Amino acid sequence: MTRILVVEDSSTQAMELRYLLESAGFEVVIAHDGTSGFQRCKQLDVDAVLSDVLMPGMDGYELCKAIKADPETASLSVLLLTSLSEPMDIIHGLSCGADNFVTKPYDGAYLVGRVRHLLENRALRGERKTSPPSSVNVLLMGKQFTINAEKEQMLDLLLATFDEVLRSRQREFEARLNEQTLRESQGVLQSALDAFARQIAIVDARGKIRMFNAPFRQFALENGWDPRQSLEGAQYFETWFSLTLAREQAGRVQEGLDAVRTGRQPAFFLEYSVPVRGVMRFFSLSMTRFPDHGGYLLAIEHEDITARKQLERRSQHVQKMDAIGQLAGGVAHDFNNLLTVIRSYSDLLMQDFAPGGQQCSDLEQILKATDSASALTKQLLAFGRQQLVKLEVLDLNVVIEELDKMLHRLLGADIEYGTTLEHGVPRVEADAGQIQQILMNLVINARDAMPRGGRLQIETKSVSLDDGYANSHDGVAPGRYVVIEVTDTGTGMSADVQARVFEPFFTTKDVGKGTGLGLATVYGIVQQCRGHITVFSELERGSTFKIFLPCAHQSLQQPGALSAPEPAPANEAILIVEDNVAVRSVLCRVLKDAGYSVLDACDAAQASAICETYGKRIHLLLTDVVMPGVSGPELAAELTQKRPEMKVLFMSGYSGTAVTGRASTRDGVQFLQKPFSPGSVTRAVRAALAS
Ligand SMILES: Nc1ncnc2c1ncn2[C@@H]1O[C@H](COP(=O)(O)OP(=O)(O)OP(=O)(O)O)[C@@H](O)[C@H]1O
Ligand SMILES: [Mg+2]
Repeated sequence: MTRILVVEDSSTQAMELRYLLESAGFEVVIAHDGTSGFQRCKQLDVDAVLSDVLMPGMDGYELCKAIKADPETASLSVLLLTSLSEPMDIIHGLSCGADNFVTKPYDGAYLVGRVRHLLENRALRGERKTSPPSSVNVLLMGKQFTINAEKEQMLDLLLATFDEVLRSRQREFEARLNEQTLRESQGVLQSALDAFARQIAIVDARGKIRMFNAPFRQFALENGWDPRQSLEGAQYFETWFSLTLAREQAGRVQEGLDAVRTGRQPAFFLEYSVPVRGVMRFFSLSMTRFPDHGGYLLAIEHEDITARKQLERRSQHVQKMDAIGQLAGGVAHDFNNLLTVIRSYSDLLMQDFAPGGQQCSDLEQILKATDSASALTKQLLAFGRQQLVKLEVLDLNVVIEELDKMLHRLLGADIEYGTTLEHGVPRVEADAGQIQQILMNLVINARDAMPRGGRLQIETKSVSLDDGYANSHDGVAPGRYVVIEVTDTGTGMSADVQARVFEPFFTTKDVGKGTGLGLATVYGIVQQCRGHITVFSELERGSTFKIFLPCAHQSLQQPGALSAPEPAPANEAILIVEDNVAVRSVLCRVLKDAGYSVLDACDAAQASAICETYGKRIHLLLTDVVMPGVSGPELAAELTQKRPEMKVLFMSGYSGTAVTGRASTRDGVQFLQKPFSPGSVTRAVRAALAS
């Protein structure tokens, strides 16, 4: 086996060389200085010497000189490990008779290649007569050297030098290329990070910030520190807490951070709120651990999520109001049927008693209570968006001016009342009665909030709501709106009260003073008009309610009047379809009493059967809108095909549009609102027959 003597004073480097050469199949002997190296050369049968240059005592050059000068060892090949920091190294190498050299830091495979090359050359030349050593004097950098080397040796060294220079150039070029590629990819990474709206920082295990994006720097600068002054360890997080996080969150973040750092959990996420310049804002913070060169780094993401939180809250509020609206509307609908029955029978009884008698005045009390109850259900239906609407194209300024006198009377002398109405404000599509209802409710609330007087202002103006506004307000479509603003200088409301004002039965007024249905009604009406309402209020400063109603697109025809002709005796045939037995019998009774021939059915199937079999003309179909199975409008469509001469009158506690989209007075469809009195039934029937 080929034996190589390694002369190297550093034992770690000697071990490295031993490992490298042994792995390549050589036997290795080690000496730690020049003197013992030379002795080993003489004692052992060595094939080549690989020696470091810089060593205490006899250095590599001297060792080489000694080897080449001693006839016993002169034929050994010597390979020097130099740093090639100076051209002198080569001259020194030549002058001491070295056969080759390798520069440090060396590449393992390259070094082994050189050793093999050296040994092969020696084997090749060993057979032939090599040229005699020439003794040449050279001057380099002011010094004279005598080079005592064979021609082959000089050529080998020259080629090795050339090779080394090329290799070091190549290494430099590659390093520059790598650096450039690195710089480019770092630039791409930085631009990508900067493109995020959230604040991002990469922090190492010691808490040092390694990278951050532009929003992070912006946020940090706004909070008084510059992340370029890279903060170390806990200091980074402490600074972070003291700047942005409420103290009670600091503990939770520290716990999360510990868990992520120790690898107990891969990530930590927290949403928190904190007042920023006096305004409460919401933030999310996440820390995610990822591996890096055997260690780990933390990606910190921080984001202002105030807008999203607000939108979520608003949308939850809208959903809650919808749910309550459905419930309230449902109860009001059933309650309406009961009121209809009570009212109608009381009316009928009334006709049997002499006016002015005790029974008559008792019945009047029942009727009065029924009226109050029906006013209440009307409000509930309005809140549930199920009130009958008479849509018209309205000038809101006119509606407000018409109400002027009444509002003055409501407010009393110590409240100053004024209006600022935008000239030529666009028209809206709404029910005038409902708009009055809205204004009355808001004005009464304002009055109650100013017991010691104050100022009430009603304004109208037109606005355009853009996509940005619509996206940040649930259920609002972008477009042109007219706003009615009602502002008072009263007590104002706390945030808790503001959050609940539109809920039905929410009131802060004493028992008997408020039902808590005023603003619920307003809310329902505004929703029904495809508008929305906002409230701004500050305690002791006052409140402003803003109602946004969409501008009308086309003009509407005036709604058909429901209360026109007086009831007149007739003997036309009327088919009543109503699933509620009590309501059906009261209708039969009222219409029979009025002289009509009455046919009645409890559902669509029965009604169809009557239409098939009844031999004479049926003048009018009086049908409920909401029924199990086939609805009133569907039934009407089917039956009027068979009997085109038959008129139709719908009745419901719901608004027609809410139920079918067809049965509103807007389309000229005849409609009877429940609860009804016998008088209103006969009037509506006459109107429908005359239409
Ligand atoms: N302009 C206002 N200023 C101060 N608080 C108000 C104002 N408007 C409404 N509120 C508060 O909102 C609550 C609910 O109002 P809402 O009109 O729905 O019911 P109410 O006035 O209490 O009773 P109702 O209108 O049924 O008689 C009120 O009790 C009051 O606390
Ligand atoms: Mg009120």
